[in-house]
Amino acid sequence: MPGIVYDAIDAYIHDLSNRGDAALQAVENQGRDENWPIVGPAEGSLLHVLARAIGARRILELGTAIGYSGTWLARALPPDGELVTVEWNPETAEIARRNLAKTGVAKRVRIEVGSALDIVPRLDGPFDLIFNDIDKQYYVDVLPLCIARLRVGGLLVTDNVLWSGEVVKRRRSKEAEVIHDYNRRLGADSRMAAVIVPLRDGVSIALKVSD
Ligand SMILES: C[S@@+](CC[C@H](N)C(=O)[O-])C[C@H]1O[C@@H](n2cnc3c(N)ncnc32)[C@H](O)[C@@H]1O
Repeated sequence: MPGIVYDAIDAYIHDLSNRGDAALQAVENQGRDENWPIVGPAEGSLLHVLARAIGARRILELGTAIGYSGTWLARALPPDGELVTVEWNPETAEIARRNLAKTGVAKRVRIEVGSALDIVPRLDGPFDLIFNDIDKQYYVDVLPLCIARLRVGGLLVTDNVLWSGEVVKRRRSKEAEVIHDYNRRLGADSRMAAVIVPLRDGVSIALKVSD
């Protein structure tokens, strides 16, 4: 993916990022070798820092893939904390299950297999942090569901919100159009205080300030 910032700056941030231990590094390597769209160590660290900074005890992740970002999030939880992570591909969820066991967080993680749009409304809230990383075409539909499941003072973190810079183009792809709409709605929502950080492909961090 073309960088949002200079490639050299991107590489600098990536190279200096904490990689976690050997088990997490192995999942990162699997992501690279098998071409899984995982967040990578810089964004993984950001998720970890945010979750710990707010003392998150319940986290919801939309888009488990192989359990890479899930491990960063689960490792930020206290021993009695919980990560609920949603993945609609059962085979992918199995890979995640194995990786989450290897990274030592399985006890704190519940994988829900199915579409985020079906599962989120059925989950008991509230969550302290929600990480949204599903297919971009569903971003606008899932936004109100996420806000409804977030506690006041909780964070909604969303990946790929700059979509390789396509969001600023006059002619956007379908995905970029939905992401732009998502960013616009989030920015205009008086319940949320949102900012976009140009890390990797763009990360949105939004604090719920009122119900
Ligand atoms: C970009 S990957 C997630 C990467 C992961 N967050 C990480 O960094 O380790 C997106 C994942 O979400 C799943 N997915 C996409 N749309 C979904 C939806 N609407 N409901 C549930 N899962 C979805 C895909 O199958 C894929 O595994």
